Amino acid sequence: MTKMKVNPYDVEGDINYNRLITEFGIKKIDDKLLKRIEKIAGEVHPYLRRGIFFAHRDLEKLLDAYEKGEKFFLYTGNGPSGPIHIGHYSIWSFTKWLQDKFNVELWFQFTDDEKFLYKNMTYEEIQEWTHKNMLDVIAMGFDPKKTHFIVDTKHANIMYPEAIKVAKKITFSTIKAAFGFTDSNNIGSIFYTAMQTVPAFLSNVLNNKNEYCLIPLGVDQDPHFRISRDVVEKLGHKKPAIIHAKFMSPLTGASGKSGSSESAKTIFMTDSAKTVKKKINKYAFSGGKDTLEEHRKKGGDVSIDVACQWLKYFEEDDNKLTEIYDKYSKGELLSGEVKAILIEKVNNILSEHQKRRETAEKQIDKFILKN
Ligand code: TRP
Repeated sequence: MTKMKVNPYDVEGDINYNRLITEFGIKKIDDKLLKRIEKIAGEVHPYLRRGIFFAHRDLEKLLDAYEKGEKFFLYTGNGPSGPIHIGHYSIWSFTKWLQDKFNVELWFQFTDDEKFLYKNMTYEEIQEWTHKNMLDVIAMGFDPKKTHFIVDTKHANIMYPEAIKVAKKITFSTIKAAFGFTDSNNIGSIFYTAMQTVPAFLSNVLNNKNEYCLIPLGVDQDPHFRISRDVVEKLGHKKPAIIHAKFMSPLTGASGKSGSSESAKTIFMTDSAKTVKKKINKYAFSGGKDTLEEHRKKGGDVSIDVACQWLKYFEEDDNKLTEIYDKYSKGELLSGEVKAILIEKVNNILSEHQKRRETAEKQIDKFILKN
């Protein structure tokens, strides 16, 4: 078993989320908090009920303020170095739910600087990905009147003055420890975390306000903010609240997170229905038994069957999901049949997404922050 490693630049090993909660010093989202969210939002998103968004920092404080009538804003982002995959989709669809339910602004950062510094790609290649990724973010259906895209190098005039204020309060040794850096890391990558911190308070600077910020993210991104939440407070802003998502497991059932490094085995938002079918049928790890006879007799293992696990993201109806799990455990449903259910769900989502993506180009100007 490989050792668990979770930071923005390295996710390895079998992830133990309870251990992460302790190690990161974050808080589990418990029933009480779920009830509270339900009371305020009128419903709880399935990802909350199912423990996909599983932990937080200061969400209670943010809700206290919200219930007193204070506004907050959302902030999340994307590192543009490849196509958008279904793991991104899950975080952003939850972000959209938050935007709709709480009727709030979203600040969305494209970290072209980060990807240029960390990836073996040219600046021009990164710009192309930034453009393509924007189309996918727009296709998520965010409200153009309430959503602001920031591109680090394009908005440097407003980003940089704030980033240096953050950077001045963070030491190299802190960065090394949090991200596992050594003396051979390039100096841009050491500074970068300051850039990722800025959108957590930028809108307050620009609009002369002091609102709370809520950051939905994959838990691997937490170290940036673990370092900088205190710094943000020292600069006179509220500490941003965070809500953390677990990783969607890779199709193959391997440890780590679903991502774009193995493109043949990752579902991208631009994949055709045929490709999705092929990828899921070929690569989705099965929790079924070796022979049909044995499967019918003993049933399959829901907890390791990737199609079953992925349905947590795509089958919204709790009763239907329970029924599928039940039948699969009893051997009444076969792995191939669960895969077929998943394929249909995913393809419905992708076809809607792709339709919206076609018209996204025309909307880009509405989303990019005027500076
Ligand atoms: N660093 C993130 C990535 O590589 C992108 C990002 C920027 C982000 N700001 C964020 C993610 C805030 C979550 C929240 O994908």
